[in-house]
Amino acid sequence: MQAWDIQFRSLSVGYGKHAVLNDINAVLPAGKVSVILGGSGCGKSTLLRHIIGLSRPLAGQVLIGGQDLFALDQPSFRRMRRQMGVLFQDGALLGALTLLENVALPLTEHLSLPRPVLHEAAMRVLRMVGLEDFARFYPNQLSGGMRKRAGLARAIIAEPRILLCDEPTSGLDPVTAARMDELLRSMNEQYERMTLVVVSHDLASLRAIADHVLVLREGRAVFSGSLPELETSNDPYLRQFLQREAGDQQMALHQPADPRVQDALEKWLHS
Ligand SMILES: Nc1ncnc2c1ncn2[C@@H]1O[C@H](COP(=O)(O)OP(=O)(O)OP(=O)(O)O)[C@@H](O)[C@H]1O
Ligand SMILES: [Mg+2]
Repeated sequence: MQAWDIQFRSLSVGYGKHAVLNDINAVLPAGKVSVILGGSGCGKSTLLRHIIGLSRPLAGQVLIGGQDLFALDQPSFRRMRRQMGVLFQDGALLGALTLLENVALPLTEHLSLPRPVLHEAAMRVLRMVGLEDFARFYPNQLSGGMRKRAGLARAIIAEPRILLCDEPTSGLDPVTAARMDELLRSMNEQYERMTLVVVSHDLASLRAIADHVLVLREGRAVFSGSLPELETSNDPYLRQFLQREAGDQQMALHQPADPRVQDALEKWLHS
C-alpha cells in the first residue's frame, strides 16, 4: 500500500458565494504529520471538510494520492472515503452507544465480521488510547479528553491511509494534551504509510508532532513547509504567531460597562 499525499491546487473554499480560503496551493506530504495552523475562524475546519469531501470547492481541486477527489465517480469516491479516518473537533461519538460500539462502528458499517472479532478489534484500539477499562461506558460518562481519545480510536480502527484530526488537544489540560500528541506521533510510527493531518492552534502540539506545517491567514496560505523552515522564518507574522503575541487581533478587551447596568447589579446584590 502506498502512502497518499494531499494536494490543493488553486483551491478556493467557502459557503454559498462567500469564500473563506482563496487560491490555496500546497501539498501535505504522504506518510508525514502535517499541522494546519491559523487563528480561530480562519478556515481550518472548512479546509478539513473539503479534504474528506463533505463540501465541494468553489474553485480548484483537492487531489488525494494524485486523484481529483471531486472528479471521482460515486463508487471510487466511496472507496476513497473509506480510506479516511476523522477525529472531529468534539469527538462526535453517538450518545446511545457504548464506547466499544462507537469505536467498532466503522467496521460494523462496512464489514460483516463475527461479533467476537469486532469486539477484539475495538478493544485493541481502545487499549492503544488507554481506554480499555471504559469499553462499556457511554460517552456522557467520560471526560472531554477521554471522549477525544475514543474519537481517535474510532478514527483509526479501519487503519485509514489518511487520518484527519480537528483540534485533538483543544480543551485538554497540558498533561493530557501532551499524551494526545504522543498518541498521534505513535500512530505515525506504527502506521508509517498513514498521512496525518492535524488542525491546531496549540504551539506546544505543533512542535511535538509536526513534520510539515500549513499556515492559513486572512483567506490565504501564508506558509507551507517543514517545521524547521517555519521556526527559522523571518516573516514578521509567523514570528509573532510563534511567539504567541496577540498582535493585530482586533479584540476590544476593555469595554466599560454601562453605569445603569452596574447600578442595577449593585442594588440587586444588596437587596
Ligand atoms: N456552515 C457554515 N456556513 C456558513 N459559514 C460558515 C459555516 N461554517 C463555518 N463558516 C464560516 O467560515 C469561516 C471559517 O470557519 P472554520 O470553522 O473553518 O474556522 P476554524 O479555522 O476551524 O476556526 P476554529 O479555530 O475556531 O475552529 C468562519 O468565518 C465561519 O463563520
Ligand atoms: Mg475549527
